[in-house]
Amino acid sequence: MKTTYFLANFLITSLSIMVGLSLSKLARPTIPAIAHHFGTKGRYEEVNPHLLDDILFVNKSLVAPPSPDCRAIHMVSVIRHGTRYPTTKNVKKIARLFELVVSHASGSASWLNDIKTWKMWYTEDMDGRLVEKGCDDHRHLAVRLAQSFPTLISEDHLRANRIEFITSSKHRCVDSVKAFQEGLHRLWDVQDMDYKHYVDDSLMRFFDHCERFVESVEKNKTALKEVERFKSSAEMDAVRRKISSRLQIPYSQFTPDMAEAAFFLCSYEFAIKSENSPWCDLLDESDAQVLEYKNDLKQYWKRGYGHDVNRKSSCPLFHDIFKRLEKAANDYRFGGVKKTATIQVGHGETLLPLLSLMSFYKDEKPLTAENFSLQHNRTFRSSQIVPYAANLVFVLYECSDGLRIQLFLNEKLMTFPNMNHLAPLYETVRKHYSKLLNGCEFNKECNVPQSNLRNTEL
Ligand SMILES: *[C@@H]1O[C@H](CO)[C@@H](O)[C@H](O)[C@H]1NC(C)=O
Ligand SMILES: *[C@@H]1O[C@H](CO)[C@@H](O)[C@H](O)[C@H]1NC(C)=O
Ligand SMILES: *[C@@H]1O[C@H](CO)[C@@H](O)[C@H](O)[C@H]1NC(C)=O
Ligand SMILES: *[C@@H]1O[C@H](CO)[C@@H](O)[C@H](O)[C@H]1NC(C)=O
Repeated sequence: MKTTYFLANFLITSLSIMVGLSLSKLARPTIPAIAHHFGTKGRYEEVNPHLLDDILFVNKSLVAPPSPDCRAIHMVSVIRHGTRYPTTKNVKKIARLFELVVSHASGSASWLNDIKTWKMWYTEDMDGRLVEKGCDDHRHLAVRLAQSFPTLISEDHLRANRIEFITSSKHRCVDSVKAFQEGLHRLWDVQDMDYKHYVDDSLMRFFDHCERFVESVEKNKTALKEVERFKSSAEMDAVRRKISSRLQIPYSQFTPDMAEAAFFLCSYEFAIKSENSPWCDLLDESDAQVLEYKNDLKQYWKRGYGHDVNRKSSCPLFHDIFKRLEKAANDYRFGGVKKTATIQVGHGETLLPLLSLMSFYKDEKPLTAENFSLQHNRTFRSSQIVPYAANLVFVLYECSDGLRIQLFLNEKLMTFPNMNHLAPLYETVRKHYSKLLNGCEFNKECNVPQSNLRNTEL
C-alpha cells in the first residue's frame, strides 16, 4: 500500500510538472486526506462539510419547532472555544521533531525538501491562544444560531440583556465569547453596546474544582495506563517504523511523541492556516487511525467513561443547565421572560464529561490498548464530537401538551439515549435523568474523604 501511495504521488507530481501549474492545484488537494482523524484538533467544517460552500448556511427545516403549536422559551448552549495555537508542551514536541528531521532525514522526495525548508513559526508564548480562524468559528456560529433560533437570539433580546454570556477564565474562551458577541453585533450592525460576560470556572472548568478527579485521575499516572500501553503497542510501533523509514531516520530515534508531533503539525497547519502541509505526507490513512485512537483513548480515560468521576465531576454544570431551563419556563408562565438564551463557553474537557454523564457515545466495550481493531467502529470518536467550536445546544419549548426539549450537537438534532423521540416531553427527560438531577451532589462526588488522615490521628 505504501509503495502504491508513493508511486501515485510520484506520478501525479511528474504529471503536474509536465502539464504545468494549472494542474498542480488538482494534484494537491486543499484538505489533507487524514483531516477527519484530527480529534480535538479537528476543524468544525469536517463535521459539517456543507459549511465549506456557505459558512452561514442554516437548513431552516432542521431547526424548526417540533410542531407549529410550540414556542421556543430558552436555549442553553455549551460551546468549546474556537481554533487555537498549540500549547507550550506541544510546541516543544514539534520543535524537537523539526530539529531531528532537519538534521537527520535524508532522501530526495520533493515533500521532504518541502519539510526541510519549512519554517518553524510556532513559539512557546502562543500557549494555546485563540487564532483568527478561531474568532471566525465563533462569529459564524453566533450568526447561524441566531438564524436557527430567531425568537431566542435577537437584537431586542441582546439589547435588553436577555442573553447571558458565561465563560471559562482561559484566554482562548474569553476571546471566543467576545467573538461570538462580535458576530451578533456585526449581524445587526450594533455599534453602541459593549461586550459582556461572566467568568465562572466552577461551571466551565468544573474538572479543576473536583478534588477527587484531580487526585485520582489528573495527578494519577496509572489512571491513563491504557494510553501509555498503547504508545508501546504493535500498532504504534508500525507507525513509527513507517514514518522513520520514509524519513530514513533510525527507528530508535523516532519516538511515539515524534509520530504524534507530526500528526499534530499536520492538523495545526490545516486548522490554523487552512494549508495541506508537507508534514501531512509523512502519514497515511492507517497511521492517522492509530494516532486518532491514541487521542481517543486519552479522552476516554481522562474525560469520558474510563473513570466514573470524570462524568460525575460535570454534575454542577448539568444541574445548572436544567435550573436555567426551568427558571425560564416559570418566568414564561408568569408572563415575564427574563432570559432567552445562555451562551456558555468552555473546553472539550467541559463537553466530553457532560456528554458522558448523559450517556451519549457509550460503546459496549471499553476502549483499551489492546482493542484498537475491535474499536474500529466505536461511537466515542472525538473527531466527530469535539472539534474546535463544538457545541451542545438545549432548546426548551412550550407546546400545547407541555414543555418539550430538543438537543443539538454541532447543530445536528440528537435523540436522548433510549428515547426515540426528537423532542421528548421535558418531564420524560427529567424522569430519565432523575437520579442525576436529584443526586450527584458536588460535595459527595468530588470531596476526597479525609478518613486516612483521621485514622492516623487515632
Ligand atoms: C434541509 O433538510 C431537509 C430534511 O433533512 C432536506 O430534505 C433538505 O434537502 C435540506 N435542504 C437543504 C437546502 O440542504
Ligand atoms: C489511580 O488510578 C488507578 C487506576 O484507575 C486506581 O486503581 C488508583 O486507586 C488511583 N489512585 C488514586 C490515588 O486515586
Ligand atoms: C478486547 O478484545 C478482545 C478480542 O480482541 C476481547 O476478547 C476482549 O474482551 C476485549 N477487551 C475489552 C476490555 O473490551
Ligand atoms: C465496522 O463496520 C464495517 C462496516 O459496517 C464492517 O465491515 C466491519 O466489520 C466493522 N468492524 C468491526 C471491528 O466491528
